[in-house]
Amino acid sequence: MDQAKFIHYKVDVPTIDEDHLRIFTILENMKWKYTDEEMIRLLVSELESLLEFHFADEEKYMEQMGFPYIAAHRNAHAELLYFIQGLMKRMDIKQGYSIKYIADTVSKQFSHHIDWHDMQYAEFAKKQSKEGS
Ligand SMILES: [Fe+2]
Ligand SMILES: [Fe+2]
Repeated sequence: MDQAKFIHYKVDVPTIDEDHLRIFTILENMKWKYTDEEMIRLLVSELESLLEFHFADEEKYMEQMGFPYIAAHRNAHAELLYFIQGLMKRMDIKQGYSIKYIADTVSKQFSHHIDWHDMQYAEFAKKQSKEGS
């Protein structure tokens, strides 16, 4: 994802923005390297561990700032991870189309998650820092 497009998804927490960008980059790479079986396996395992790490990290961050809707956000993470892992299981490495389709679908769901859920704690953090200053 190019920087101009990524600006839209920025939550303004550097470590979290870095994770989001890395996740988008892996998904983009899956679309371009879909014929390289070994590479796809590597990217998928990197994506899965990065997502797990990222969700846990984000939950810790929300806990620290006392974000009130953490339970709903945690559920959204669990659902998203379950959805993504289900798609990955159905991925047919011999079939490029299916890899591209899956990368595209995950990308859309992940963007949607940032838009609807991550932006809520981003707004909350901004409000908190304004009140604190
Ligand atoms: Fe999230
Ligand atoms: Fe996130």
